[in-house]
Amino acid sequence: MTNVSTNLNNKGIGSFFAFVENHDKNLTKHKTVFSPENKMLFYTGRQAIKYLIELIRTEQNAFTIWLPEYYCMHVTEWLKSNYSNIETYKTNPSNPKHIINAFEFASKKDVIIINNFWGVSECLIDTGGIDVITIEDHSHGWLSNSCINSKADFCMTSLRKSLPIPLGGMAWSPKNHELNKSIKLMTSESYEPIWDKTLTAMVYKNEYEKTGNLSLKKESLLLIKDAELNLHKNYNLTSIQSKHEEIINKFLPINYLEFKSENIKELHKSLQTNQEFEIIDTNTSTTFGLILHFKESTNLDKIRTYLIDNNIYPSLLWPGNINTYGYYLNIHLDYRYTKKDMLYIANVLNKTDDTLK
Ligand SMILES: Cc1ncc(COP(=O)(O)O)c(C=O)c1O
Repeated sequence: MTNVSTNLNNKGIGSFFAFVENHDKNLTKHKTVFSPENKMLFYTGRQAIKYLIELIRTEQNAFTIWLPEYYCMHVTEWLKSNYSNIETYKTNPSNPKHIINAFEFASKKDVIIINNFWGVSECLIDTGGIDVITIEDHSHGWLSNSCINSKADFCMTSLRKSLPIPLGGMAWSPKNHELNKSIKLMTSESYEPIWDKTLTAMVYKNEYEKTGNLSLKKESLLLIKDAELNLHKNYNLTSIQSKHEEIINKFLPINYLEFKSENIKELHKSLQTNQEFEIIDTNTSTTFGLILHFKESTNLDKIRTYLIDNNIYPSLLWPGNINTYGYYLNIHLDYRYTKKDMLYIANVLNKTDDTLK
C-alpha cells in the first residue's frame, strides 16, 4: 500500500475529539448566534429523540414511528428496543433534493423522522395534506441551512458529533410546540460515569497528541469503546446535570460549520476526481465532512485500510444497513484540521488509484 509522507505527527485525521478548552483561541475564531430559544439539552441524540416521542405520546397513543430505511443503526436499534411501533421508508442519502412522499406510507398523526443526510439534505417532505408530525435529525448537519431554517414540528441533534464535549444532544421545536411538558425524567446517575469515562478518554487523547505516549492512545480508545457500549445499553431518559449543561452551553456559541466550509474549499483546490467513489458535494451548503460514496463493497475495504495506513480514520456511515444504498465513508474536516492537513488528505486520496492496482 502507498504511504504518503505526513507532518500530522500524532494527530490522525478523524476519530473522537481530544480534550480542548472552550476558550481555545483556534476554536473560538468563528461564532454563531444560532441557539433555539426553546431548546432542551440531553446527554445524547438518542435521548433527545426519545424525549420528543414521549412528548408526542402525551397527546396521542396510536401512531407509527417512521425511520429512513438507511439510517444510523445505533439509533434504529436503540429506538426498536424502546418502541414496537417502528417502520421504515425508502430514502436517497446521495440526493439532497430527495422528497419523502409521506402520503405513500404514512397515516394521520404518524411520526416521521427525517434525517439531514450529511448536513446537505433539504429535508423535503410531501405529506399530500396528511397531518403527520415531523422530527428532523440534524446530527450531521448542526448549523446547516436545513437545521437553521427548519420548518419541522421538532428537531434534534447529537451535539457530541460536532462539539468537542463528552456527551450532548439537543431537542427543539421550530414550530414552537411546547417542549417543557411534565415528562418524567430520571436523575442523571446512569449517564454521569459515561460522561466521566468519555472525558478521560478525551484528556488522554490530548496528552497522547502532545507526547506520543502510545499507552495513552490505547487507553483512550478502550475507554471510548466502553463508553459507546454503555450508551447502546442505556435506555434511560434522564435530565442532565447542571454542571454538564453549563459545559455544553460554553461550547454552543462556536460556529463549527465555518471551519469545515473553509477546509472543504481548500481541499477541493487539490482534490482530483476519482473512478472508485463519488464525492457527495454541493455548492450551496457544507457537508458534515468529506463524504465518499461507494456503490460496491469491493473497493471500500481496500480504500479504508489504505486511508488508515496513512493516518486518516474515516467513519463508515453506517455499518449494518442494507447494501442497496451502497456505502458512505466520512473523512473528518472539522476545526481540528488546517490547510496543510487538507493538502495532505487530497494527496492521499489522489493516490487511491495506485492503491487499487
Ligand atoms: C444521524 C444520527 N442521528 C442520531 C445519532 C445518535 O446520537 P447519539 O449517539 O448522541 O445518541 C447518531 C449517532 O449515533 C447519528 O449518526
